[in-house]
Amino acid sequence: MKPVVFEPFRIKMVEPIRLSTEDQRAAFLKAAHYNPFLLRSDDVLIDLLTDSGTSAMSSEQWAAMMRGDESYAGARSWERFEAEVKDLTGMPHILPTHQGRAAERLLYGHLGGRGKVFISNTHFDTTRANIEFSGAEAIDLPVAVGLDPQALDAFKGNLDVEALERTVAEKGAANVAAVILTVTNNSGGGQPVSMGNAKAVQAVCRRHGIPFVLDACRIAENAWFIRDREPGYADRGYRSIAQEMFGLADAATMSAKKDALVNMGGFLTLRDDRLADEITQLLIITEGYTTYGGLSGRDMEAVTQGLKEVFDPDYLDYRITSTRYLGDHLMALGVPIMRPVGGHAVYVDARGLYPHIPVDQYPGQALVCELYRIGGVRCVEVGSVMFGKYDAAGALIPAAMDLVRLAIPRRVYTQSHIDHVVQSFGRVVKERDHAKGYRITKEPRFLRHFTARFEPV
Ligand code: F0G
Repeated sequence: MKPVVFEPFRIKMVEPIRLSTEDQRAAFLKAAHYNPFLLRSDDVLIDLLTDSGTSAMSSEQWAAMMRGDESYAGARSWERFEAEVKDLTGMPHILPTHQGRAAERLLYGHLGGRGKVFISNTHFDTTRANIEFSGAEAIDLPVAVGLDPQALDAFKGNLDVEALERTVAEKGAANVAAVILTVTNNSGGGQPVSMGNAKAVQAVCRRHGIPFVLDACRIAENAWFIRDREPGYADRGYRSIAQEMFGLADAATMSAKKDALVNMGGFLTLRDDRLADEITQLLIITEGYTTYGGLSGRDMEAVTQGLKEVFDPDYLDYRITSTRYLGDHLMALGVPIMRPVGGHAVYVDARGLYPHIPVDQYPGQALVCELYRIGGVRCVEVGSVMFGKYDAAGALIPAAMDLVRLAIPRRVYTQSHIDHVVQSFGRVVKERDHAKGYRITKEPRFLRHFTARFEPV
């Protein structure tokens, strides 16, 4: 028997979970217009909606928060935060922000605008929204293997470098505002990006004078995969792998709500002095003064400590192993999932699970609702609700895949919680032929998945 990889922590504080019946949950779901974002968290048993801002902090992080220096300017907490982020990223300019999308708005709002193009392995939804809101275009160029849910490949998060060359030639390098590598590739299945791919992307950017940006939310998890799978990295530390990747980039955004193990925070880092000057003005106008951005001193302390803890090999082993545990058990039930399992989440292929639900009736939304009704498990559709568009005639242009993401909060749930999720899937599979599709009854223009309302077809 292989040794069990157990949670490398003890639980010191608990938060009760309120149990509910299936009938109650059916009523909650109806009241939430069949959109789990509109549920009350008290009505959720296991919340796999996101791994963002949902981490349990460590005793050291809570202790660090007590040291928070809340001075407006030049706080000690800022000095520690800046030193830590500089050491990790190697970039000279550190701009604190209240979360990742604030860093995105600052950078892409500045570099974007009508006529500009951004290219990425896959833009996360807030990244795309910030780019499109500026008037620019966001183009996803994932490697082809990344779009095949069943294909086993070590680095399905990679960007298609040949397609990048073609797109730069077609659009004209001067119009390409930046190339963004999202590590790990969240929307593409939580799949890792290799160092080789990052180097190849950097080379193209260098040749054409295009800024190369890292979306580094989950760079520690990505580093685990590089060490595990990419030749030449088996003896390297996770932090040093992350440092090498940051070293390739001209700028980086990070939502600290993921791999910095905090509930709120983020930053933008830049190499270019002039760009940093210009964006710093925007930072002060909209986020806060340069030494706190949108953050309290105590928040910056928690980020600083979290960025140290996340590279602990025991933590990363447990993290990746426990995500894989869920994926392996779902596969054993015959649930089609995105393979291999990524770092922060398991992605279920809802089209594969519900072949009888047409794509314009949102099979992913159907699964999200079934899983909540049956097991009180909340998760998110990452498919045609999130990324679908309409053509001129008003017909849905579906997303490339209809996935459902089961994102695992860091250090929050134990193995028996995850076993409950697996059991709930057992029933989902048994009742799959009865699942119905959904139609949208109300939707906003941007980021519609957050607030859209649905009804069963
Ligand atoms: N980039 C990626 C790859 C993300 O996953 C997120 C957030 C952001 C940027 C934006 O960061 O939320 O701090 O403003 N992802 C969350 C999720 C919301 O559920 O995956 P933020």
